[in-house]
Amino acid sequence: MYKTSFPKGFPKDFLWGGATAANQIEGAWNLDGKGLSTAEVVKKAKNRHEVSMSSVTKESLQTAIADPSDKLYPKRRGIDFYHHYKEDIALFAEMGFKVFRFSIAWSRIFPHGDEQTPNEAGLAFYDKVLDELDHYGIEPLITLSHYEMPVGLTEKYNGWFDRRAIADFNRFTEVVFKRYQGRVRYWLTFNEINTGTWGFHETGAIDEGLPEKEQLQIRYQALHHQFVASAMATKQIHEIDPKAKIGSMLARMQTYPKTPDPLDVRAAQLEDEKNLFFTDVQARGVYPEYMNRFFAEKGVEIKMGPDDEKIIAQYPVDFLSFSYYMTNVTAHNEKGNTAGNMSVGGRNPYLKASDWGWQIDPVGLRISLNEMWDRYRKPLFVVENGLGALDKLDADGHVHDSYRIDYLRQHIQQMKEAVSDGVDLMGYTMWGPIDLISFSTSEMSKRYGFIYVDQDDDGNGSLKRLKKDSFFWYKKVIASNGDDLN
Ligand code: BG6
Repeated sequence: MYKTSFPKGFPKDFLWGGATAANQIEGAWNLDGKGLSTAEVVKKAKNRHEVSMSSVTKESLQTAIADPSDKLYPKRRGIDFYHHYKEDIALFAEMGFKVFRFSIAWSRIFPHGDEQTPNEAGLAFYDKVLDELDHYGIEPLITLSHYEMPVGLTEKYNGWFDRRAIADFNRFTEVVFKRYQGRVRYWLTFNEINTGTWGFHETGAIDEGLPEKEQLQIRYQALHHQFVASAMATKQIHEIDPKAKIGSMLARMQTYPKTPDPLDVRAAQLEDEKNLFFTDVQARGVYPEYMNRFFAEKGVEIKMGPDDEKIIAQYPVDFLSFSYYMTNVTAHNEKGNTAGNMSVGGRNPYLKASDWGWQIDPVGLRISLNEMWDRYRKPLFVVENGLGALDKLDADGHVHDSYRIDYLRQHIQQMKEAVSDGVDLMGYTMWGPIDLISFSTSEMSKRYGFIYVDQDDDGNGSLKRLKKDSFFWYKKVIASNGDDLN
């Protein structure tokens, strides 16, 4: 109904917190029965501008499997959250976190992916993490698949390209849903599911060097299997724990037309469709018509099981989450040239960029929130947003990261505007509240945290945790429910 007032601030129960992923923080890659994951066979980038997360070939896979060290594979060591989780969660609690987003490493629960019984030691680790969160009254928000699967499934059947991944994954989800039933209100299925169009890091399927048509076939087929597995997980959680909610997770990359030329506007619309296709399927429960043309023109044929469409339609997600780092610019007659973990858009002259060339666009967050809310009318959750920067530790052990505070302040301000615009927003988990291993380059020196971790790109350091200036700033933001952003 028409109202004469509108919300002026964040809702009272707004979930403030931070987000991480198992393979970027845990370490302990070969302890307590854990198997090797696909993230742990990705070599670190040669330099800051090389994006290495999907560069895996059959040969490099075998070399990685045979390598017993973490030297070339930083995601094997993370920041040793496995042994520091109490200290880290205490620091999150000190900032006043209401929610902590983390992922469960599938390979800790099913080391090779195809076992019939889970690894008890793996389940016990997450029990302890949940106990600790519970102790401080912090809500867990768990991602079931954040850029990793047991590497055994890549070897056995080329990851998500094979339909058998659905049953293996849903055996894993059933086990964790039953184990943590009543303790977790919010779940996410596949992290940044749309990035599966970029290959291995999401699909676990090796396709490097294949012609574009074959790559597209493998990637979209793998993604179809993830859609089905995600819908099945939705069915499972609603049956096992009716109070729990499950969401999708998209890397939202709003595309702007470079000029008002209708051809550029149409090019931007097409780019946006490629991004929103994923939430269209997961929230509306159907493959949108525009993809029929795309698939036909690219020669992609999705092989579906007889009940797949029914399953996808019957079990859409309860809410939509997304990461937000940047926007893109597209022209109908140009190729993009900006950096990003998976963006390939053109440069936007109105925006500044991070040290890694990611274009910073706080207003774009408000635009995205409004568009997503309008399109789906389901609650939204910003589950990643943050600034990767080269922090300097001064002689007294302080990091004065005013640039991070500025970045976050501007994004939070725009989120607040979106709430005033009428968007139903559940919460905000800033990415990387503690420094962690970068997803795209596997560096440590690309730091996001409120908490500094003493470790360099080669894994040297004491792993000591130190509070940056932004730590105290975020604490104030949470305490004032987003009113005090100074
Ligand atoms: C998102 C991922 O794409 O961006 C995270 O979900 C990732 O895993 C984050 O770490 C930032 O990217 P990067 O490459 O700077 O670590």
